Amino acid sequence: MKVGFVGWRGMVGSVLMGRMREENDFANIDPVFFTTSNVGGEAPKVGKDVPTLQDASDLDVLKEMDAIVSCQGGDYTNQVFQPLRDSGWDGYWIDAASSLRMVDNSIIVLDPVNKASIKKGLEDGVKNYIGGNCTVSLMLMGLGGLFQEGLVEWATSMTYQAASGAGAQNMRELISQMGAIKENVADLLADPRSPILDIDSAVAATMRSEAFPTDNFGTPLAGSLLPYIDKAWDKGQSKEEWKGGAETNKILASGSNTVHIDGLCVRIGAMRCHSQALTIKLKKDVPMSDIESLLEGANDWSKVIPNERDITLQELTPTKVTGTLSVPVGRLRKMHMGPEYLSAFTVGDQLLWGAAEPLRRMLNILQE
Ligand code: HSE
Repeated sequence: MKVGFVGWRGMVGSVLMGRMREENDFANIDPVFFTTSNVGGEAPKVGKDVPTLQDASDLDVLKEMDAIVSCQGGDYTNQVFQPLRDSGWDGYWIDAASSLRMVDNSIIVLDPVNKASIKKGLEDGVKNYIGGNCTVSLMLMGLGGLFQEGLVEWATSMTYQAASGAGAQNMRELISQMGAIKENVADLLADPRSPILDIDSAVAATMRSEAFPTDNFGTPLAGSLLPYIDKAWDKGQSKEEWKGGAETNKILASGSNTVHIDGLCVRIGAMRCHSQALTIKLKKDVPMSDIESLLEGANDWSKVIPNERDITLQELTPTKVTGTLSVPVGRLRKMHMGPEYLSAFTVGDQLLWGAAEPLRRMLNILQE
């Protein structure tokens, strides 16, 4: 299978390349690497001979691919996808961007949750397979067991989203902000007798100053948080919040049995792990031990963390999870509102299960 890669040099693309090398995925395909800026340049090393970099806007070369994997972003998809289809290209389009997620002839790929839908899509001739929103994918990786059993009446997800979801430059800016805060109080901090309120007011002044680096976030994130992600949508929701319900139901193929999911999405100063606190209204009183087995057994990566302080603080944090495929879920308890109300907290790497991993797995499914 001839597979074209576009956007492989960016952050999600680099994570994808890394995972594909780790899993020896390149052995089974003929990869062709595309570029928007360096046509004829050297392709990345993938353990076999590959052509030099091809022009990502050249439809004639793109048309030769059996599948195209794009991590180039929505603007590229909007520019190239339709002309390519209009030219008669019938290959598989696998994309990390959101542009085609909600169109009728695409499937959102998260195979540990919806492999049956993906397989059916392949049988039915669906050609567009799109990675989901990171928060949605991570919620379903952690809590999919309950959704798949049809036990969820509704859920709210309150998110704690990492800088990586906003982009590579935002990750750099977060660290620059942290550094600027420290630098401006370094002397006070070094003196154990300096009053904490002096340090505090100096920190606030630094964060509010014109010189504080905010070109990417537009506002301080380090030492603060941003309770609005993406643009305004409808009825007071942000687009990120809307995706929670819309994409989850598409992945679950809920049809007319919509599961209502709503919440509030917040950016915090983590690097690449998104966390979420969920309130889940179950359709019935399910015993806690059954809930735990369902969650743990739903896929190979979900992991139940006992609702105890020490293990929670060791296992259920972005620091622990970052760079891994593990999706721990913990703080599980029935809430005071009643036995159908479940509280949960989950953490996952936004660049792995939230972006790159479902794409590389989709490529493998094409070869099954
Ligand atoms: N929209 C997500 C975020 C990232 O801003 O964190 C990509 O799904």
